[in-house]
Amino acid sequence: MKVLVTGVAGFIGSNLASRLLSEGYEVSGIDNLAYGLKENIPEGVDFHCQDIRDKNIYPLFKGIDTVFHLAAKNCIADCQADPVETAEINVAGTVNVFEASRRAGVRKVIYAESAALYEGSAIFPTPETDVKPESFYGISKLASDYFARAYETFYGLRITALRYFCVYGPVQDYWRTIPPVMSAFIIKLLKRERPIIYGGGEKRRDFVYVDDVNDFHLMCIRDPRTDGKEFNIGSGMNYSVRGILDKISKMLGVDPDPIHKDDLPGEAQVTLADITQARSLGWEPKTPIEVGLRKAIEYIRQEMKVGRIP
Ligand SMILES: NC(=O)c1ccc[n+]([C@@H]2O[C@H](COP(=O)([O-])OP(=O)(O)OC[C@H]3O[C@@H](n4cnc5c(N)ncnc54)[C@H](O)[C@@H]3O)[C@@H](O)[C@H]2O)c1
Repeated sequence: MKVLVTGVAGFIGSNLASRLLSEGYEVSGIDNLAYGLKENIPEGVDFHCQDIRDKNIYPLFKGIDTVFHLAAKNCIADCQADPVETAEINVAGTVNVFEASRRAGVRKVIYAESAALYEGSAIFPTPETDVKPESFYGISKLASDYFARAYETFYGLRITALRYFCVYGPVQDYWRTIPPVMSAFIIKLLKRERPIIYGGGEKRRDFVYVDDVNDFHLMCIRDPRTDGKEFNIGSGMNYSVRGILDKISKMLGVDPDPIHKDDLPGEAQVTLADITQARSLGWEPKTPIEVGLRKAIEYIRQEMKVGRIP
């Protein structure tokens, strides 16, 4: 079975491609390498360096059974700085992927939304229904949700939307303007530098390990109960940013002395996923945070050794 992954050079896309290959799928991938790195793409992927906004990508979708659409502009700070490009990539680019899938007769599209849809929610854990995005990034993900539902209604395209919370694990990027909190902390502490905390450190985040996310990805390909639905993909537990720093510091045997900077605009104070709906299909996030963190640390240590992290 042929599967296409957009954003294949990124964190989740490259992990997903590895898992798909190991499960025997034929995998092709699209990425314009704006954020992702070519060396992240696993051997065996039929890779095309293309932009999802390009209307000529349609032939790459021919003969594909399932599309995972993960490519996006996804750093909240970068999106706040450039709402126009955010809309071009996350909204128009996503619609272009839906359109290419429809024209090529793709059986199913599974695509990335985000916990940013719940930025203004005061319900914890947050169910899929309490949609209140505030940042340009969150709004762009909600706009693509409306397009997804219209593609189902008008063209019968089968679509599943995945609202990831904070996914972490090996290959999580560390080179964007403000890297995700876990890899940022691990790198600083391994380098014996002072980690940066935006705000007081009391913000709470629901972290989910990338292998657990991939378990759900595989279910989505096969299980028709996922068609036409949105799913929260988190662990259903959260930790404060300071708590995560302390956990990583303990694992590395160091005493952290963080630099506190101003809170970032557009970021929620708390994220906590209500994962009842995904669980009802038999999915369970299985990886304890210490196990996931150990693997993330090992990956970054290795990357530093070979000089890929300066
Ligand atoms: N990582 C998380 O915790 C998280 C949380 C919520 C939602 N998401 C969503 O999941 C998806 C994957 O996230 P990730 O963490 O792997 O991000 P990532 O930045 O590591 O990967 C995204 C990839 O998309 C590519 N890309 C960007 N613009 C493109 C374009 N115009 N054309 C082609 N490729 C383009 C980038 O080069 C990158 O390789 C994104 O849609 C993101 O918004 C991620």
